[in-house]
Amino acid sequence: MRQRLRRIGVLTGGGDCAGLNAVIRAVAKSAILEYGMEVYGIADGFLGLIEDRMHELTANDVSNILTQGGTILGTSNKAVPDRFVTGRDANGDPIVEDVTPRVLEHIAARGLEAVIVIGGDGSMSGAARLMQHGVRMIGVPKTIDNDLRHTDLTFGFQTAVEVATEALDRIHTTAASHHRVMLVETMGRNAGWLALHAGIASGADVILIPEIPYHPEAVYRCCQARAEHRKNFTIIAVAEGARPVDGQVVVESIVPESPDPIRLGGVSTVLARQLSEATGLECRSTILGHVQRGGTPCAFDRVLATVFGQHAVQLVVEGRWNQMVALQHGVICHVGIEKVAHHQRQVPRDAPILRAARAVGTCMGDA
Ligand code: F6P
Repeated sequence: MRQRLRRIGVLTGGGDCAGLNAVIRAVAKSAILEYGMEVYGIADGFLGLIEDRMHELTANDVSNILTQGGTILGTSNKAVPDRFVTGRDANGDPIVEDVTPRVLEHIAARGLEAVIVIGGDGSMSGAARLMQHGVRMIGVPKTIDNDLRHTDLTFGFQTAVEVATEALDRIHTTAASHHRVMLVETMGRNAGWLALHAGIASGADVILIPEIPYHPEAVYRCCQARAEHRKNFTIIAVAEGARPVDGQVVVESIVPESPDPIRLGGVSTVLARQLSEATGLECRSTILGHVQRGGTPCAFDRVLATVFGQHAVQLVVEGRWNQMVALQHGVICHVGIEKVAHHQRQVPRDAPILRAARAVGTCMGDA
């Protein structure tokens, strides 16, 4: 049933990525210009709802931001209303409070009839909890990790793939010049999509992803075999969440205030050292880090973000509450936010893309 809504809110939650501003622009322009709604931009993700920081966006405010990286609204990957860290106790441990009532008050006082949440699985989980209190939510899937369930793609992923691919291409030439084994570590958390796509796109010799725990000996053998066949360098794309069959992921830091406190990072450095000791080859590692999240979105992400943003407003207009916009088999559709929340989508063992990687001779660390 079509609804006549006057005012909606929009927020960007979790880690940023390219294309957030393109979604904000599409949401605001479509809601204001097509449907005459008022759009409130909520600052810093759920933190803005907790602290009542939001302001009306005009069409002019979102003009000329399509190509801008980051988010004009700001974001946070720490603030969750039902487990909000309000301070520290005498031992330095976080004091956690459920501030959902505060959020509900702010939403009511501001007259927000629905909130569009642009985020990853953490933000969809936050949205799902607010839905239980009667808040009408619409989700837009974002993340460089591409690990949201029920959508084939999240916006931001393709740009990160381009960045990682360019880095791998550049590493390729220096690796060849110095006859080195070069490891390039991508982000991606517990999913290997980013390393897999960038690795295939750049013709990496070895790709290591969390879904396929690696045998260090298989990686050593691959590097040695290449050296013996006068291929005097090796390129290894490693996802930050990759781990050896008999080992653990490498944790870079712990962020106690975050709902997902573990920050991964450093597996490429550890593996480079082991490889060097085992093979005698010269090895170097490069951790790409947040460079994969910054900068202007690629054309594909600009289009996807625009289509997602417009579709989110369409769902609001049609009163299809608590749905996340999705892309399935090339078609824009929507799925219940509760089906997406609290889960991550990993690379399936039988994914055609894995078969293709193996078919062109890529070592996945398991042979
Ligand atoms: O989820 C996006 C992501 O960039 C992951 O790939 C990475 O593990 C994490 O966020 C890093 O988080 P932070 O910005 O807190 O360092």
